[in-house]
Amino acid sequence: MRKQIAAANWKMNGTLQDARALLGGMAEKYVELKENQEVIVSVPFPYLMLASEVLSMFHHYHIAAQNCSQHESGAYTGEVSAAMVASCGASHVIIGHSERREYFKEDNDVLASKVKQALKNGLTPIFCCGEELKIREKGNQNEFVANQIKGGIFDLEADAFSELIIAYEPIWAIGTGKTATAEQAQEMHAFIRQTIAEKYGIDVAGQTSILYGGSVKAENAKEIFGKQDVDGGLVGGASLKADAFQEIINSLKV
Ligand code: PGA
Repeated sequence: MRKQIAAANWKMNGTLQDARALLGGMAEKYVELKENQEVIVSVPFPYLMLASEVLSMFHHYHIAAQNCSQHESGAYTGEVSAAMVASCGASHVIIGHSERREYFKEDNDVLASKVKQALKNGLTPIFCCGEELKIREKGNQNEFVANQIKGGIFDLEADAFSELIIAYEPIWAIGTGKTATAEQAQEMHAFIRQTIAEKYGIDVAGQTSILYGGSVKAENAKEIFGKQDVDGGLVGGASLKADAFQEIINSLKV
């Protein structure tokens, strides 16, 4: 069975002291995961080593960065490479979050390069996609998301593609308190899986974890994760509280 994943995305929140307290809270609330379950904690770059030190003792817990450079190394002041991220204890990296696409103008070509850098350095990309409200209102969300996926990750060979985790995050539901209904999430996830199946076959599509993101909370996680094609969530706001995030972890399918 494919992996069911609760992924935290701390975004740009908290000092080192806050990070220490939150990781400590997570460790305190830890409940052993089932064989098919995983937790991924995506922290700001400066906290990667701390997070991997605190959480590495827990089975099926992984650390992620929230971004990495599309370049290998060199004169790119302020950038952080995939190799650096990996050497600090992370095994995953979020790529193509809508905030990166929107505020930092990361387009499909840049994201495709980042995905390749991540894979080359042994990191599992969590590749994000999702439409704005006006696209959904016009009923064009499927076409839009398919184009993001085709432009960002469909030039990979099947072996490389099967390393990926996908996160569908409708932009209108991120940080807004507005969640897609469980049915809307299921519909899009099934469409994404179908799109993957057409390119890579049903085995690869069936094994790819597709996470839902956008105002996932302790209160709604069980219903959303309960849908057949929803394999857990990428969680922003609610991952900043250890008890809320633990409840979300507890909502993963077995
Ligand atoms: P949210 O963020 O849970 O705060 O809506 C999700 C995300 O952007 O990854």
